[in-house]
Amino acid sequence: MTTSKQEHREVARARAGANFALVKYWGKADARLNVPAVGSISITLDALFTETTVEVTPGLARDELMLNGTRRDEDLAKISACLDLLRRRAAVDTRARVASRNNFPTGAGLASSASGFAALVRAGEAAFGLTLSPRERSIVARQGSGSAARSIFGGFVEMHAGTAADGSDSFAEPLLASADWPLEVVIAVTAKGEKEIGSRTGMTRSATSSPYYAAWVAGQPPDLATGRSAIRARDFAALAELAEHNCLKMHAAALAARPPLVYWNGATVECLHAVRRLRAGGVPVFFTIDAGPQLKAVCEPGSRAVVEAALRAVPGVLELSTSALGPGAELY
Ligand code: PMV
Repeated sequence: MTTSKQEHREVARARAGANFALVKYWGKADARLNVPAVGSISITLDALFTETTVEVTPGLARDELMLNGTRRDEDLAKISACLDLLRRRAAVDTRARVASRNNFPTGAGLASSASGFAALVRAGEAAFGLTLSPRERSIVARQGSGSAARSIFGGFVEMHAGTAADGSDSFAEPLLASADWPLEVVIAVTAKGEKEIGSRTGMTRSATSSPYYAAWVAGQPPDLATGRSAIRARDFAALAELAEHNCLKMHAAALAARPPLVYWNGATVECLHAVRRLRAGGVPVFFTIDAGPQLKAVCEPGSRAVVEAALRAVPGVLELSTSALGPGAELY
């Protein structure tokens, strides 16, 4: 952090990795506080990240946001609401300039809101002169985007839905360090535009109109318990079965909403079959899919090349990215 004496301008930069849930968050218990209806378990990535600079700027009438080099006034309300939480803690009212860059497609189901809000909170905290505990950081990040609470931490992470009315026990915490189980992820990009229905709208629509939503919520505690113990035991087969089941259950609830939420395209489904064929043939790999058409294949490092080759051969796959697991949100 640097401080310019003349203007009391404070600048901080942070980097945060995207994360993909293996046990999904889908649905809110409290929309205002952004408390999830279910807990979740994720992996944080090292190769897909957001870098964010927050510059506290006296005299600015309102916050400013540059995303990937373009002014994004349409996203400002959510950014300002998140910065307000930090300003309140710091007892200041000064506005900030935020410049954020993703090294991967924004808003396409690749968890840019997770890495984005985690980096914003980490940089904003420092720029406003605060020192938060990692748990407090995750609580603030959650209010920007539920999945962002998990990108505060590296490796395998669990997010607790919590029960407190004020959301104070709705936070993420680390489950297992990436070095303790260094899995890899191959991402099959099957469409590049921003998705049509964001997760917020998708969750509300699922909760209010899907006949399967209640079953989805009720099934989450046992899935979390299975996921937790599979990760602690580094039991790939158990995690694979559970993660695919949980992902398809989330999509089943979304598909049954009115109007339906169909996040997949044809290539997504072909990739899903390719992954299942590989695993049936003994390759340690499983898939997960979020609120978009990209397929994420999680594998053991020794199988990455064969997974990449299989997904590259699927018609409609536009490009592949690969990533190891990575650290939590850090200043740099
Ligand atoms: O935190 P949001 O609003 O980006 O929602 C995340 C929703 C999913 O990506 C579909 C699931 C998850 O747990 O990340």
